[in-house]
Order: sequence, then structure tokens, then C-alpha cells
Amino acid sequence: MRHLRASSVVQLSCENEVINKPSYQGYPSRISLKNGIGLVCLLLLASYFVSVTLNPMYKMRGLDSAVQEPLSQLNASVKPPSLNFMDGKNVVLVSHELSLSGGPLLLMELGSILRRSGAHVFWVTGNKKETTSDPTVVSLEKKLLNHGLQIMPARGMRTVTALTSSDLVILNTAVAGKWIDAILKGEVKKVLAKTLWWIHEMRGHYFSMEYVRHLPEVAGVMIDSHATAEYWRTRTRDRLRFALGVSLDTTRIIMPKIHVVHLGNSQQLMLAAEDAVGRALMRQRVRRMFEIRDTDVVFSMINSVSRGKGQDLFLRSFVEGVNMVNKINMVQQTVFTVHALLVGSDWAAPSYESTLRRFVKENDLERTVHFVNKSLDVVPYLAASDVLVQNAQGRGECFGRITIEAMAFQLPILGTAAGGTLEIVVNGSTGRLHPVGKEGVHLLAQNIRDLTFDKSLRVKMGMRGYARVKQKFMEHHMCERLGPVLQTVLTQTA
Ligand SMILES: *[C@@H]1O[C@H](CO)[C@@H](O)[C@H](O)[C@H]1NC(C)=O
Ligand SMILES: *[C@@H]1O[C@H](CO)[C@@H](O)[C@H](O)[C@H]1NC(C)=O
Ligand SMILES: *[C@@H]1O[C@H](CO)[C@@H](O)[C@H](O)[C@H]1NC(C)=O
Repeated sequence: MRHLRASSVVQLSCENEVINKPSYQGYPSRISLKNGIGLVCLLLLASYFVSVTLNPMYKMRGLDSAVQEPLSQLNASVKPPSLNFMDGKNVVLVSHELSLSGGPLLLMELGSILRRSGAHVFWVTGNKKETTSDPTVVSLEKKLLNHGLQIMPARGMRTVTALTSSDLVILNTAVAGKWIDAILKGEVKKVLAKTLWWIHEMRGHYFSMEYVRHLPEVAGVMIDSHATAEYWRTRTRDRLRFALGVSLDTTRIIMPKIHVVHLGNSQQLMLAAEDAVGRALMRQRVRRMFEIRDTDVVFSMINSVSRGKGQDLFLRSFVEGVNMVNKINMVQQTVFTVHALLVGSDWAAPSYESTLRRFVKENDLERTVHFVNKSLDVVPYLAASDVLVQNAQGRGECFGRITIEAMAFQLPILGTAAGGTLEIVVNGSTGRLHPVGKEGVHLLAQNIRDLTFDKSLRVKMGMRGYARVKQKFMEHHMCERLGPVLQTVLTQTA
């Protein structure tokens, strides 16, 4: 029964992902059963595939709607101790959409954590049509139900009652501000007074009045990094003054209290990262797909493909770095190739993406630069990589979840000295930082060269990064940071 379920997960995942997960059905045929060793391998592989495919993390990011999530896998026994006070509280989570993008997935994880703490958790999707048959929405709703959350309609009395009678409302992302009036109707003020607004964005266009109008009225704002918090603190104030026509030196708009809560890695990601056998298998499999040898060095960027994430500048650094490597190689006669994996392509920015592909072609990099479609599951790519590049431009990442995920996989980080990355990466210790913009291209190229040749440096940085994650960026750390924030909002409204 477990096996049947495992293979059905595999098939479902394959339809939606570039990477075919190791297939439980496919592998045994390739394994020699001539002797006892073969059998042991087979058993090891079988138990690995069952654990991988049943691992809830793969489901969080996968569209396996037909699969029941076994509740035991959620490890309900692990109650976050720092959130004990949430036991029995009613919490409504409001998301602007239900999709596989970062914001909604983070809120789903938070919902699951709160549920494990004993809270009654309700979910409202602002933009949802009542009769939707969108498979993503359907499968994610199923997951919410499996995690013990209750789904409320986007509009109507039931939802308004849930909101007004709740102990706490968590409004997710700046964009959700657009839906407040429509969802709450006449109860806006009352509900905002017990709302914690969780913001993950740091771009100019989120300062539209349409979104931020109600910001000063909420009980608190929670933001993923100090850099982003600082930005919102100043920008929003200016924006509101400007929009309300208030001159700078008269009325001061009082902002709600802003709490910075760094994210943490889920238990499931840590399980995958710490499973050496599983990692090795995924690494082999992904590398084989792209004809990357064991001795080759892989630099990965795992971000949606857009100018803000800086894939174009990374490719320029990559060309320069590889040229330096080749020059040294001609002297030293070492044999390996440097590869780049760009995970996250979805043609959402077609002209930008075409430019990138043209650049690759013109520079004759088609065999070493690999574009991978946006994936629901980044774990196999992390397992296949040697270095993660976080090249977000402008103000950088708000936080950059992938950075701490890669550190859990003991990857050194080459990141831009901006935004949340500065709060995660210790320059020179867990990775190296370079400036944003064109100024950073040459330094990143040098860092690519250095890490290509110095495996022991990669390993050392990776291990320090892993230690840093264990020390600061685990789910339980996030819960410890979250506890006082939720308590503050609850006391304020009690
Ligand atoms: C679930 O929690 C128990 C108790 O803390 C632990 O021993 C076990 O390893 C956990 N299992 C998973 C899958 O996380
Ligand atoms: C990647 O996505 C594009 C467009 O969304 C699609 O045409 C293509 O077939 C996908 N590639 C793979 C390997 O799935
Ligand atoms: C990172 O460290 C290098 C080497 O010590 C230094 O040159 C660079 O300025 C540092 N960058 C930042 C952003 O601290």
C-alpha cells in the first residue's frame, strides 16, 4: 500500500516537474540482483524512495492533488514550545491568492505551525472565485485541509464572522491590502486592530495606495529582514504623506510597530538536507541529466527569471570567471568543466529570458549553462550544486529563503551585498559578497574562479553555513522569534 502510494506520487510529480523524481518502479530493473549486495541496495533504495516521495516537503511544493497526505508525516508530536500560548486561539489567515509562489507557501507553512500549536486556523483567499477548478488551487486547498486548516469563502457573512470573532488575523503580503475592504465590509476598523500584516516585498510598486492605505491601522507589521523593515519604515511614511497631501513637516503618520522575524528552514527541508544517501542519489541523477561529471563544478541560481534577480549579470560574471579558469587550466592541465544551472525559467519575462538565451548562444555556452523550468521542488537542484549564487539586484532580496535552504545543503553562497542576504551570509566565512550592479561583475567572476579551484574552501564555507543555519535559521528559531510578536498583538487586542 505504501509502495503504491509512493509510485503514484512519483507519476504525479513527473507531470509537473522537469526532474523526474527517482522512480520507484523504474529503478529496480536497473539494479543487479545477482547477489546479496544487490538486494541490500535495492532495499536501501526502496526505503529511500518511499521516504522521499512521502516526505511532506515534496508535497508542499508539488501538485500531487490525488494523494492523501498521511497526517503522521506532519509530525504533529512536535509542538513548537514557544507558541504554546496559541493553544485554542482562533486565527484567520488572509492570502491574496493561493499559488505556488513564495508568499502563499510561507503562509501555508505558518498555518501548519500554528495548527500544531493547537490554534484553530482558518484560511481566506482574497482573489478566489467560488467555482474555481484551477488544479493548483484545488490541490493546495486539499493540502490546507490535510494540515487541519479550515477554508473559508472569499466573501460573505461566514467569513466576516470568522474575522470579527477571531483572536488574531494574519494578512499576508502587501498586495493583500487590496482585498481588505472587499472582504471585511463594514468591519474594517475592528478587524484591522487585531491584524498582523506579514510583508515579504521590497519593490517600489508595492507602495501603491491601493495596497498600503490601511497599513497605519493594523496592530503590527511583521517583515522578514531588517533591510526590508527599514525600507518600509521610511518609504511608506513618505508615500502616505505624499498620497494624503500632508506636508513633510506637519502631521507625522504613525506607523504600526514593525517586527523583524527571520525565516527558518522547515523540518522537512532539514531532513532532506541531512539525508546523505538521498542527496547523493539526487545529485547523481540531476548531473546525469545535464551531462555534468562528478568532478565538474556547478554554480546555481534558483530564482524566478527576472531582471531584479540578476541572471544577466551573473552570466557575464560566469563567462569572465570561466575564462580565468580556462587560462589557469591550460597551465595546470586539470580536467573539469564549470557549469551554471539557472532554475526558475517560466517565460514570465519573455524578452529578458530571450536575451539570456541569446547571450548563452553567442558565447558558446550551451553545453555548460542549463536553463531549468520553474520547479516546485528545488531540493534535487540544491543536491546537484556546489555553490549557490544569490545575485538579486537593486535593494536585493527581502530575505531570500533559498539562501538558507542552500546553506542547509552545505553550499557556500556568492551573494550580492544587499537586502536580506547581508543578514544571512557572513562575508568570507559562509560565502562571499559582491556589490550589486555592473561593479559586482568582476568580483563575482573572481569568486567563481576561486571557488572553482578551491574545493576545501567550498567545503569549509559550506560547513560554516550549515552551522549558521542550525544556530539561527531553523523552524524552531523562527517560532521563538514569532512567539513574542504574536503575544504582543494578542495582548494589544485583548
Ligand atoms: C517526529 O518527531 C519525533 C519526536 O520528536 C522524532 O523522533 C521523529 O524523528 C520525527 N519524525 C520526523 C519525520 O520528523
Ligand atoms: C518549460 O516550459 C516551457 C514553457 O512554459 C515549455 O514549453 C517547455 O516544454 C518546458 N520544458 C520542459 C523540459 O518541461
Ligand atoms: C567582503 O570581504 C572582502 C574580503 O575581505 C572585502 O574586500 C569586501 O569589501 C567585503 N564585502 C562586504 C560587502 O563586506
